[in-house]
Amino acid sequence: MSFYSQDLLEEIRSRSDIVDVISGYIRLQRKGSNYVGVCPFHNDRNPSMSVNPPRQIYRCFSCGAGGDVFKFVMEYENLTFPEAVKVLADRAGVVLPEQDASREARQQADIKAQIMELNRLAAKYYYYTLRQPAGRQGMEYLLGRNLTEDTIKKFGLGYADKYNGSLYQYLKSKGYSDQLLKESGLMQVDEKRGMYDKFWNRVIFPIMDIHNRVIGFGGRVMGDGKPKYLNSPETRVFDKSRNLYGLNLARLSRKPNMILCEGYMDVIAMHQAGFSQAVASLGTAFTTQQSVLLKRYTNEVLLTYDNDEAGVKAALRAIPILRDAGLTARIINMEPYKDPDEFIKAEGMEKFQERIESAEGSFFFELRVMERQYDFREPESKTAFFRALAGRLLEFEQGIERNNYTEAAAGRYHLSYEQLASMVRQVGEKTGGLQKRTETEALPRRRRKTEDSSLRTQRLLITWMSSGASLFRNIRKFVEPDEFTDPLCRRVAELLEEQYEKGRLNPAALFQYFAEEEEQKQVSAMLQDTIPALSGREEEEKALQETILRVKQNSIAWQTAHMDPGDMETLQKIVQKRREIEKLHISLD
Ligand code: GTP
Ligand code: MN
Repeated sequence: MSFYSQDLLEEIRSRSDIVDVISGYIRLQRKGSNYVGVCPFHNDRNPSMSVNPPRQIYRCFSCGAGGDVFKFVMEYENLTFPEAVKVLADRAGVVLPEQDASREARQQADIKAQIMELNRLAAKYYYYTLRQPAGRQGMEYLLGRNLTEDTIKKFGLGYADKYNGSLYQYLKSKGYSDQLLKESGLMQVDEKRGMYDKFWNRVIFPIMDIHNRVIGFGGRVMGDGKPKYLNSPETRVFDKSRNLYGLNLARLSRKPNMILCEGYMDVIAMHQAGFSQAVASLGTAFTTQQSVLLKRYTNEVLLTYDNDEAGVKAALRAIPILRDAGLTARIINMEPYKDPDEFIKAEGMEKFQERIESAEGSFFFELRVMERQYDFREPESKTAFFRALAGRLLEFEQGIERNNYTEAAAGRYHLSYEQLASMVRQVGEKTGGLQKRTETEALPRRRRKTEDSSLRTQRLLITWMSSGASLFRNIRKFVEPDEFTDPLCRRVAELLEEQYEKGRLNPAALFQYFAEEEEQKQVSAMLQDTIPALSGREEEEKALQETILRVKQNSIAWQTAHMDPGDMETLQKIVQKRREIEKLHISLD
């Protein structure tokens, strides 16, 4: 992960008090034993970030950002890990050893950071080319699409010229190896031709993550060539399912919603027209991870998928994903235009704003699409439609919600509420829909619930274990790391144990073992959570006891569920463990 030794990192950390460092960036206020401040990583005015001095970690309860002092500096200043180490070392007056400048050592150091750096260089190179004579065609194209100079700059648009190999030569001249260039996704390799630029004769859309780091590119062909858009392949830094084009800007837009578009050009045209909350997926279908990402910033998503069959399909796929993430979805009608870019070009922003306000709720959008499969002039077909409608209404689990939608749907199809409601009941009874649904759906939901609660318990125990050496020692007497069924909890438990054996628990030092953003968030949640305040030692002891018991019981339940039924030996062990648990006496001493 880094070429600095563990000892050196700890030296820097011990001289970089997290409260001091973060106070250099944002205002912190003391609150109990913690400090709180307005989180700089999402759009907020409330102090949702909390900094914990004993543990030397921070966490935002709203957006989930969290980590140690290195992480904060990385995120805030948009730096790689080694760069953040340098900043903090300089600040603390720690002299870093001379870096081994050989290329091999550099490559070992951090391939991810190097790919980011390559992307940054490539983006600059394309940006520069766009403004050269070799980029004239690209510039004319962009201006011809009504983009202003400001917009072109804001999105860092560029141009890959016609001479395939320019970028390759440029990056080679900077000393990068073929291996790394290949990994970056900027180059293509061909047995006959060797290595060559992936993009040429295209305008270039750099794709950035929420910290404005270039993680990939989209390139649009000039004119009508094929393929129209070419996108970077997934690389170590480019995960298409976890990023959204334009989110780096949209998350700061302070709008009441987010607008999900289909293409890069749509996003750019929308931002130029003042709809700075527009984002797009990256040439692939909308994913669950993206919905979760959006949920961090908004409660409502407006869809502007293209006005064609593929667009409708894409919207129908995205709606349940958004719903599952707890987002309300509405669909913007762009008739008679194909996409927002064309709409705005033809009608302007005020008209688009009107369309936003009159956007249709996702349920009615789905109904309208469903209507097309029926012929309302045929009584039989019409009845079939109402039956299907009743089926959809049955999917609303909550009575009030179902009633409200029944009422609205009745109005829409000129039925009385009673008529439609009785149809819903009929269909429910006939298909066993009402009962069956509660049976088939309640089951996984219940299972999900116990999963959630077991995860919560495991995390809580980790919080407890990381709270001090004596607590750790105590808990460790009863719980083995491999009794955590959640892999992340198990790993944290193992790492805590390593630290404990080396003589000191150091929660902040755990972060370096988790490379993924999502993992870091979860770890910071475990470490930063506070143990519910309890009113006395006895109560505390009881709560801890219960938590330990539940973690152990969960582990046994897991083993039982995953064992080979014929494996008598394991079965005996499980039975034995169950007995042990019953006799367990846990105390805080
Ligand atoms: P313009 O013609 O430039 O206005 O394109 P658009 O923004 O209207 O894009 P379109 O609706 O054709 O496509 C939407 C998105 O799908 C694009 O931004 C790309 O991410 C992706 N896409 C479109 N065409 C292709 C293609 O040929 N190959 C790949 N891989 N992706 C494409
Ligand atoms: Mn378009």
